[in-house]
Amino acid sequence: MKKKTVHLFGALLASAVALSGCAGTSNEEYVFKNAGFEQGTLSGWTAEGGAFTSACVYNQSEDEQGNPYYKEGEFFLYGGAAPEGSVGTLTSEPFKLKGNGRIGFLIGAGSDASKCYVAVCDTDGNELIRRGNDDYGTAGFYDSLHRVVIDASEYLGKEIVIKVVDSDSGSGMHNYINVDDFIVNYQGAEDVVSKTFVADKYIEENMGSVVTQYRHTYHAMPPVGWMNDPNGFSYAFGKYQLFYQFHPYSSAWGPMHWGHYSSEDFIKWELMPTAIGPDTSYDKDGCFSGTAIVKDGELYLMYTSVADGKQTQALAKSSDGVTFEKVGRVIGSDKVPANSSRADFRDPKVFFRGDSYYAVMGSKNNDGDGQLLLYKSADLQNWSYVGTVWKDDRTTMGIYECPDLAVIDGTDVLITSPQGFATGGWRYENVHSAIYMTGSLDTQSGQFARVTEDEIDSGFDFYAPQTLTAPDGRVIMIAWMQMWDRTMPTQAHGWAGAATLPRELTLKDGKLYQAPVREIEKYRKNEVNVTEASISGEQSFDGVEGTKTELCFTLDVGDAAQAGVKVFCGTEHETRIYYDRESGLVIFDRSDMGTRISGSAKELNASKRSVKAEVRDNKIEFRIFLDVSSCEVFLNGGERTMTGNVYSDPSDTGIRFFAEGGSARILSLYKYDIVVE
Ligand code: FRU
Repeated sequence: MKKKTVHLFGALLASAVALSGCAGTSNEEYVFKNAGFEQGTLSGWTAEGGAFTSACVYNQSEDEQGNPYYKEGEFFLYGGAAPEGSVGTLTSEPFKLKGNGRIGFLIGAGSDASKCYVAVCDTDGNELIRRGNDDYGTAGFYDSLHRVVIDASEYLGKEIVIKVVDSDSGSGMHNYINVDDFIVNYQGAEDVVSKTFVADKYIEENMGSVVTQYRHTYHAMPPVGWMNDPNGFSYAFGKYQLFYQFHPYSSAWGPMHWGHYSSEDFIKWELMPTAIGPDTSYDKDGCFSGTAIVKDGELYLMYTSVADGKQTQALAKSSDGVTFEKVGRVIGSDKVPANSSRADFRDPKVFFRGDSYYAVMGSKNNDGDGQLLLYKSADLQNWSYVGTVWKDDRTTMGIYECPDLAVIDGTDVLITSPQGFATGGWRYENVHSAIYMTGSLDTQSGQFARVTEDEIDSGFDFYAPQTLTAPDGRVIMIAWMQMWDRTMPTQAHGWAGAATLPRELTLKDGKLYQAPVREIEKYRKNEVNVTEASISGEQSFDGVEGTKTELCFTLDVGDAAQAGVKVFCGTEHETRIYYDRESGLVIFDRSDMGTRISGSAKELNASKRSVKAEVRDNKIEFRIFLDVSSCEVFLNGGERTMTGNVYSDPSDTGIRFFAEGGSARILSLYKYDIVVE
């Protein structure tokens, strides 16, 4: 029989179970003769028909594509090694069923569970209980083994045999059965077969092979594979919880899972098991973005469930912050207002106000206008449509994605990510943007009365921000530190995408200010301070260098035409962040970083971004965070920010200040290494 492998990726690792050799006290597990095929032969087993031959006692660990079988020990029974279409049985020696009567074993392949299965039989060979590979076809489970259990306790004390049956004479995929590691009086559980289980095994196996060159040291990023939007950013179970759009199996976007990190301080992120994956009929094409809320001590994830071209909203919940169980679909297509798209209806932001839950949704009406819709619920399960929060025709390439609603000092701040806003001067230079509007949301009509509006970040890589309110009242925002339709050099390294530094939000006169979370200051090391220096041409300072670095200084622009700082500098590369007198803009120029990035046609230039920065008293304040391949710039106490990825060489650790066409001064310069161990 030809070996047929249709794995999309390596599957799972059968759970390792401590195995004791022989019968003893009641909770000791035991085995019958050659129960794990470790003799390397079929000794102890009787084969009838041609489905199980000595060639089936297999010692390979993985198939030709590198997909692991997840066998226990050296050998397992690989039905695929027998001739195509052969049928037969393999029967163990008789043994007396003892202990708890549970028989655990590993099973794989067997696409038709009614034809390929394991049976517990009496000594005449009459089948008492059957178990096939019920999980065949779930995620990567084809040839790979996983643990199942037969509860035969009603036959305790009886003489029984185990019979492995292959009665599938067809030529379909995996029309044979793989088994291994029979354990009697089995104490453990069955493997939970789900997309998240498979994903976690894949992560465990593959995270070590990600190329580290551009990996950040104090930003959340996928352990392996692809990340886009932050999701479910919340405080629960005594920690900050960060989920994200995650495709573990490649560094490109794919069927979306929710990856999960948790943290006590926003800086050190602990990798948690993957929270949810696309494994139900209503979310089989992806678990898209959404948010989280705590209700009755449980954390609810409200996300967009995608199936068959429709976007609906679903819930999953957790009572421990580790494992999540799906609750079901809660907003179906029937609740989409008549004039709106069912295909573009996503990214619920769930919040509680007054005595109700609300969800703001990203959407588009049938005229192609981007809009945000409001829904209301008493219990998170039953939702009704309230009205249109916001609508306009500026989203030229889609919808308003990823809405968020924060309350800062009593003011509603609506945050959203419009697709394809037209570039206007220095604003909206990326293909898609992230904006905020201050104002007030009327939960009766659903309408938002806008007072102010602006772009949130004017760099290259900032999208789909979300907020949480911390227990101390701070509103913290985090965003995806990448952009759609860009070349991403780390894709060749087995990963892509990261989250920005979480930022504290405040409002002054309707203007949003962003400061990196104060917790980052705990990780400062090796302070270097320069009180004042005049700059003309280029200048560096002793000890001021590095790529995992915080840099704070005030620039007195003097009479220079251009003045600022160059980071990630080496003999051939540099990235400039500087004030340009003529335009009155601060410019982030990565065109000489050493790597070419190209973006969508809408982006005139994927190498240069600018922002209008206020020059007060001839000065601009800079606070810059470098993290191996990222650079986040906060200007004038967070009045403006610019975030971008920078891909230079590991040796490009230099930091130099410069002034051209005149001189400038650097005041109160502090440099810290940011060290997260
Ligand atoms: C935004 C977005 C969301 C969607 C998700 C899918 O980046 O397009 O609207 O839910 O990504 O991964």
